[in-house]
Amino acid sequence: MATKHTVAILGPGGTGGLLAALLSRSGHRVICLAREETADALRGSGIRVRSRQFGEFTAPVEADTELREPVDACLITVKHTALDAALTRVPPTALGDALVVPLLNGVEHPAALRDRFRPDRVAPAVIRVESTRLAPGVIEHGSPFTEIDLTGDAVPRPRLDELAATLTSAGVTARVLGDETAALWAKMAFLAPFALLTTRYGLPLGDVRTRHRTELQSLVAETAAVSRACGAPADPAQALARYDAFAPAAKSSMQRDAEAGRPLELDAIGGALLRAAGLHGVPVPVTARLMSELRAAGH
Ligand SMILES: NC(=O)c1ccc[n+]([C@@H]2O[C@H](COP(=O)([O-])OP(=O)(O)OC[C@H]3O[C@@H](n4cnc5c(N)ncnc54)[C@H](OP(=O)(O)O)[C@@H]3O)[C@@H](O)[C@H]2O)c1
Repeated sequence: MATKHTVAILGPGGTGGLLAALLSRSGHRVICLAREETADALRGSGIRVRSRQFGEFTAPVEADTELREPVDACLITVKHTALDAALTRVPPTALGDALVVPLLNGVEHPAALRDRFRPDRVAPAVIRVESTRLAPGVIEHGSPFTEIDLTGDAVPRPRLDELAATLTSAGVTARVLGDETAALWAKMAFLAPFALLTTRYGLPLGDVRTRHRTELQSLVAETAAVSRACGAPADPAQALARYDAFAPAAKSSMQRDAEAGRPLELDAIGGALLRAAGLHGVPVPVTARLMSELRAAGH
């Protein structure tokens, strides 16, 4: 096994709970930072995972409402809508030399985290997984893969490699990518059209890509143009091919949040796209219209 590490996980939900359980069962020390009731549940029963990739298992974790000691890394796995409130649980002084690793979708949070924590320790990551928190400490992992791309242009490379090794030892497919902007925008370029259209029309991807194909193509082209303006490569044809290869019943997590009446990460995805477009003077009429329609629908 890689060196035993201590990892804090802020927000042990779908993604964080899965990673906490995987790290714990592979011998690392895990401290989940959570609300009082969730921390109590985790301390009492650990985290129970039912996974297509890893089978069923339960792993013990430590849990607290606040970080009180230095750790090797602090993974941030709350949603954007909860980020500001949750960050109060991580006093910068308690972190020591830890890496701060946000796994949130979106492109704007790394700058906000660099204002708060040591900029050369903020290592934004992209996670590809489908994992749901059914109840505190109960995780359903539906995808047969768990993949993390670690980045952080200002972070010393050995620190990223070390964390990648820790994640790999826990069963995650982890790699370190050299270009942070490209990594974050690659996820955004895929996610934004999928999330906005499936949520706007309340339809799974199969219906969106047939009944709303022109809009999908426009949104993919607009997102690619913004991505390029931000300095990240983009391949609209490849993005469309990926949507076409997905199962027709696929839903975005934003759409599932809308169906469940939960707050949406709309500002972090569509809002960020519009802000970046505005900054670089890229016209994005279809994105702007969809965002207005989603806002008018109360999101
Ligand atoms: N889930 C996926 O498959 C997936 C895949 C790729 C990317 N992502 C991205 O990963 C990020 C996290 O998503 P998720 O699905 O893992 O979210 P989630 O299942 O909703 O988990 C978020 C966790 O944050 C906790 N939380 C909320 N407010 C808190 C606070 N003030 N203090 C401490 N904990 C707090 C919640 O705690 P309680 O349990 O106490 O409510 C919950 O367990 C999002 O940006 C999402 O877009 C998710």
